[in-house]
Amino acid sequence: MGGVFFPRASFRLRAFGWAALRFAAVVSTAMSAAACESSDDGETGPEPYDGPPIPWAYEPFPAVVDPIDNPSSDAKVGLGRLLFYDPILSRDKLTACATCHSEQWGMSDGLVVSVGVDGEGPTGPGRTGPNMTTRNAQTIWNAAFRSEFFWDGRAKSLEAQALEPLKAEPELDLDPSDAATRIREIPEYVEMFDEAFPGEAQPIVPENIAKALAAFERTLVSSRAPYDRYVAGDEGALSDEQIQGMELFAEAGCAGCHVPPLFESNEYAMRVESSDDGRMAVTGEPADANAFRVPTLRNLRETGPFFHDGRVVDLNDAVWLEADVAASHGEGRVLTWDEVDLVALFLRKALMDRSKEPDRPDEVPSGLPVPEDGLRIPR
Ligand code: HEC
Ligand code: HEC
Repeated sequence: MGGVFFPRASFRLRAFGWAALRFAAVVSTAMSAAACESSDDGETGPEPYDGPPIPWAYEPFPAVVDPIDNPSSDAKVGLGRLLFYDPILSRDKLTACATCHSEQWGMSDGLVVSVGVDGEGPTGPGRTGPNMTTRNAQTIWNAAFRSEFFWDGRAKSLEAQALEPLKAEPELDLDPSDAATRIREIPEYVEMFDEAFPGEAQPIVPENIAKALAAFERTLVSSRAPYDRYVAGDEGALSDEQIQGMELFAEAGCAGCHVPPLFESNEYAMRVESSDDGRMAVTGEPADANAFRVPTLRNLRETGPFFHDGRVVDLNDAVWLEADVAASHGEGRVLTWDEVDLVALFLRKALMDRSKEPDRPDEVPSGLPVPEDGLRIPR
């Protein structure tokens, strides 16, 4: 089947072209920190890969590593899940994290940009309201493995990220300490915080709200997609067309930024022009204008519209656009429309896994209505 093999480093040079020097160092640090803890000591290297051929050097799917100051527990994850779906964390007591990160929409919301407090209608197209975000809601699938969050990478951990939506006026618009005050009045939460943070005199503080949310988010791992079964040795897990799509994904230079096995990276690149400063707002570097973090392509079938501003609705169109940009940057070869369809098929089918999708609670401890999202559209 003509899979091309090259060691990681030279592949990256080939795939990146002009961008190689700027990006290569960052990728390798980020990916190796998560993936190969023991490969540096020279004694216990990773197991040799013996699955079917793949067009890049094999890397195992990383394990979730909790931060030292926020070890996970069932109590913490259970609490985080309820907080995630509970509109108690919003000014209008109607909006929750799940309003914009719904399991029905690939942990995103199906909208071009999101609608926060005072909005009307269930999550998904048709939801309207006065408070809109400027960017497309990111999926939080596999957020456990990220070390830089938001499209511009301004938050450095899930714990640091978790209270930002409360502080954001167009999102939840509630002072985190007011959220804590509200929660202290709810006996079920008092008990759950005691269990999740044993021995703390007053566990209901903003920092622990963030920790519980982060512990819950770390359970959203999609490591059982057909691609994962294929590299584990199940050759029938991918169809011939999906395998062709995978090879084209490499030939077009996509894997240099959307790096397997997570199909994302802590890279920032300008793909489409927009009025959004992007990464420049964080670094102050004019070269980072319009540059955004490389998003994951896992579970992409459900996370559209695509790009930081939700400008592209159809996945095939998004692949076509990226293939065009990649070819013009010398990152890979030009794809025909038929080839674009094969790449899109690979992304849609081979990278899809929602086996660890959270269950939407029927009720939350505040007694407030869980935000609505009753519909899963077959896609
Ligand atoms: C009104 C919609 C809205 C609500 C409510 C909301 N988010 Fe988000 N979320 C977004 C948008 C939009 C982004 C991207 C923002 C950016 O890049 O500037 C985002 C980004 C994130 C990210 C970063 C993901 C990544 O890959 O970098 C995480 C994690 C996250 N949200 C978790 C949460 C949690 C936890 C809550 C509840 C406390 C929440 N969100 C509430 C819309 C929302
Ligand atoms: C130089 C790095 C780089 C290369 C090479 C690259 N991408 Fe991307 N890709 C990005 C970045 C950065 C974004 C987000 C850009 C934005 O939103 O403005 C993105 C966005 C996407 C999206 C939208 C995802 C979403 O959730 O919104 C898709 C789909 C995509 N790329 C597919 C591909 C394919 C297919 C290829 C190969 C033809 C490719 N990319 C090559 C960096 C890259």
